[in-house]
Amino acid sequence: MVTDAGLHATYLDSILERHGHAAASLLQILREAQEHYGYIHPDAVDYLGAKLHIPRSRIEGVATFYSFLHLQPHGEYRVLFSDNITDRMLGSTALMQQMCQQMWVEPGKVSEDGLLSINTTSCTGMCDQGPAMLVNGRAITRLTRQRVQEIGLLIGNRTPLDDWPADFFAVDDNLRRKGLLLDSTLAPGAVLRAAVTLGAQNIVEAVKTSGLRGRGGAGFPTGLKWESCRNAQGAARYVVCNADEGEPGTFKDRVLLTSYADLVFEGMTLCALAVGATQGYLYLRGEYRYLLEPLQAVLQRRREKNLLGRNILGQAGFDFDIAIHLGAGAYICGEESALIESLEGKRGVPRNRPPFPVTHGYMQQPTAVDNVETFCSAALAIQMGAEKYRVIGTAKSTGSKLLSVSGDCPRPGIYEYPFGVSVHEVLHDCGAVNTRAVQISGPSGVCVAESEFDRKLGFEDLPTAGAFMVFDDSRDLFEVARNFVHFFAHESCGFCTPCRVGTSMLKQTMDKIAAGHGTRYDLNEVEHLDKVLQTSSHCGLGRTACNPVLHTLKHFRPAYENRLKSLDFEPAFDLDGALARARQMTGRDDAGAHLKTEGA
Ligand SMILES: Cc1cc2nc3c(=O)[nH]c(=O)nc-3n(C[C@H](O)[C@H](O)[C@H](O)COP(=O)(O)O)c2cc1C
Ligand code: SF4
Repeated sequence: MVTDAGLHATYLDSILERHGHAAASLLQILREAQEHYGYIHPDAVDYLGAKLHIPRSRIEGVATFYSFLHLQPHGEYRVLFSDNITDRMLGSTALMQQMCQQMWVEPGKVSEDGLLSINTTSCTGMCDQGPAMLVNGRAITRLTRQRVQEIGLLIGNRTPLDDWPADFFAVDDNLRRKGLLLDSTLAPGAVLRAAVTLGAQNIVEAVKTSGLRGRGGAGFPTGLKWESCRNAQGAARYVVCNADEGEPGTFKDRVLLTSYADLVFEGMTLCALAVGATQGYLYLRGEYRYLLEPLQAVLQRRREKNLLGRNILGQAGFDFDIAIHLGAGAYICGEESALIESLEGKRGVPRNRPPFPVTHGYMQQPTAVDNVETFCSAALAIQMGAEKYRVIGTAKSTGSKLLSVSGDCPRPGIYEYPFGVSVHEVLHDCGAVNTRAVQISGPSGVCVAESEFDRKLGFEDLPTAGAFMVFDDSRDLFEVARNFVHFFAHESCGFCTPCRVGTSMLKQTMDKIAAGHGTRYDLNEVEHLDKVLQTSSHCGLGRTACNPVLHTLKHFRPAYENRLKSLDFEPAFDLDGALARARQMTGRDDAGAHLKTEGA
């Protein structure tokens, strides 16, 4: 029973009531409890455990997995500076130092009076308007020295967040180049009306004919996925929209959810019709918490127009509704099976695959998981006709792609192109000059150097989930890779040893090189580590964790070698030194008692 610390069983009861006392909603329940109380009090853990009939260990296991949930107080104001490399390039490190000094707080600690804590967090998806921070989960963009100082004063005066200047929280779309998708002005329901006439089987066929491939990164053919889900045996079917958008440098889904939400939901409902689903979920990353109420309002409007609910558009048996689940700061939950675990109220640990979500997804039932942009593109393909859609882009990458452009360019933001656009063309359009490198598709993607700027974006050459981070010739690509490696070490879910240990070793190696203690041995070790991670990681995070180092080593080796203590091969372990005691005991110190050294 909740007894003290201002915790009221009645409030927890109201949360439980809202979620139908379902253990599968544990993450949502914990998140809402924390939003109200500031953290998850031990009494609340006991109370929820008793009410949901789950052990305390499960609740604590979930609460400790997600970086936005806390079992300890984290201050009345929890300030988290976004720590993507693009935030750093805009001065986030100095701004955080400034705030720590102003507020007399050490990074990562709670102030003595319990007022605030200041720390970093992984990319918040505001790279086009950084540096950014979250205060009690609310995004603040365009930080400057002055803005940070004002925030310090507001916190010092305990001003409620609702009374802070509204422009602190402004998040712009920054639509720089529109195309097929961003130019579309489809009225809500237009695609569904056409789809109802087509019928489920023909929708699947049309999506297959359109050549549409998933926009979340892997590029799986969407029509095939929908067909497998439709044909799978199950008591119920589900549609899940992956809006976790955690890949550093990616923010196009944020914009689609802000200004094209009807199209996203139209695509999800289209998919429901095609696969025979009655329930859908939008998994929204915790960093986009501010979008929750506007999205719920769009859903409500659609219900009122009979575009959601029972007998949609008067079609008997076409029943479908969408609920929104909020994530809580875990990049791994973007991986589709981890996302489903998280939707079920568990730790976001990727599942063994096969079976795949299309046959055994949410609640072990057939589930179509697709990216936000994929749903929009599917709706467009149906509206304009599959044959017309498939001629846009390239043979294996049909349609258009949204890019999230950030870094060293005067016009960061969202750019839409038909697939097949070259890196060079995007750089030209965003006004980038003296570009040294572009990181395509985030840390798990590819680092492209100047000699490769004629390469083309698409599944034939450079696949991308959308991130396009630009680095000019003033940037140190070693530091870029080091930032990405820290990100992977932080975000590894810890389920498999090679990834848990390997990402941490990689981080230590990069820190060692940065401190001037590295040798060629360390560089060789990264290649070795990559082989281990490639072959033994359970999911894509581990398999791609070494990419940032390997790619930057390939193009910018001097950035590493200039930092090495020695260019020679020096093992980390001094074998000859370890034999000193043996030599002493045998009274030998002749050349034969030493390991041969190079050149000897
Ligand atoms: C570590 C990791 C993170 C991922 N993050 C995302 C993400 O944030 N958004 C997304 O759509 N897909 C993400 N994916 C890909 C999903 O697993 C999945 O392929 C995708 O949601 C399928 O949708 P699509 O076919 O429309 O691309 C991630 C994959 C991995 C391995
Ligand atoms: S590879 Fe890493 S992130 Fe993926 S399951 Fe294993 S530990 Fe978790």
